[in-house]
Amino acid sequence: MQLVEAIESRRSVRAFLPDPVSQETVREILRLASRSPSGTNMQPWKVYAVGGAVRQGIADDVAAARERARETGVEEHVSEHRFYPPDMRDPYRARRREIGWGLYGLLDITKGDREKAFAQHGRNYTFFDAPVGLFVFIDKHLEIGSWLDLGMLMQTIMLVAREYDLHTCPQAAWPPYHRIVRKWTGAGEDEELVAGIALGHEDTRAIENTLRTTRAPLEEITSFAGFE
Ligand SMILES: Cc1cc2nc3c(=O)[nH]c(=O)nc-3n(C[C@H](O)[C@H](O)[C@H](O)COP(=O)(O)O)c2cc1C
Repeated sequence: MQLVEAIESRRSVRAFLPDPVSQETVREILRLASRSPSGTNMQPWKVYAVGGAVRQGIADDVAAARERARETGVEEHVSEHRFYPPDMRDPYRARRREIGWGLYGLLDITKGDREKAFAQHGRNYTFFDAPVGLFVFIDKHLEIGSWLDLGMLMQTIMLVAREYDLHTCPQAAWPPYHRIVRKWTGAGEDEELVAGIALGHEDTRAIENTLRTTRAPLEEITSFAGFE
């Protein structure tokens, strides 16, 4: 696959087929993605790939935890870092609303429909039914610069997946459940869960996969100076 084709065909897929992805393929994707650049070549990432019974165990534990939190009103599972500012401003607020309501619109979830929204958010924790989940961790000793490196790795994973006709969804939904993920993967207390990535074959009949996101025009996100 050509690079441009991989870039243009990558998108966040939120419904996967049960078709398996072999460990060999996952290994090859991760091997290629490990060529991603990192500051001073520190390669600060650690990826835990899960499938089969481990993937299912994690999904079941998170589902039970979410149900418990809903019943008791007490949230025992919290992230070790803050992902977004609590007072989100424009243009970011407007952009995230566009994608949020775009997705909910397709799924017929209206404002205030908390049951459906809860269920849709819960789809994150089955990896949207993808057979493989990847958990990306960073050593807690490291700083913000190394977090940038994890983004490089994640993007390369997602682009390389296209080479194998696979799709992905990056997921910041996972860090609150780091304790459950640690229990099943053996990740250490000295490592911090940054994100998950769902990996599998797209269910092309699923309505949520018809979502196409927009991008701000170049003029809004760039500035040029000094060119002849
Ligand atoms: C770091 C990161 C975290 C994300 N977390 C989630 C998530 O938890 N759940 C989800 O459905 N999508 C998640 N997304 C997907 C974004 O919503 C998506 O990338 C964005 O809307 C652009 O759409 P596209 O990926 O289809 O181009 C995440 C994306 C990134 C880069």
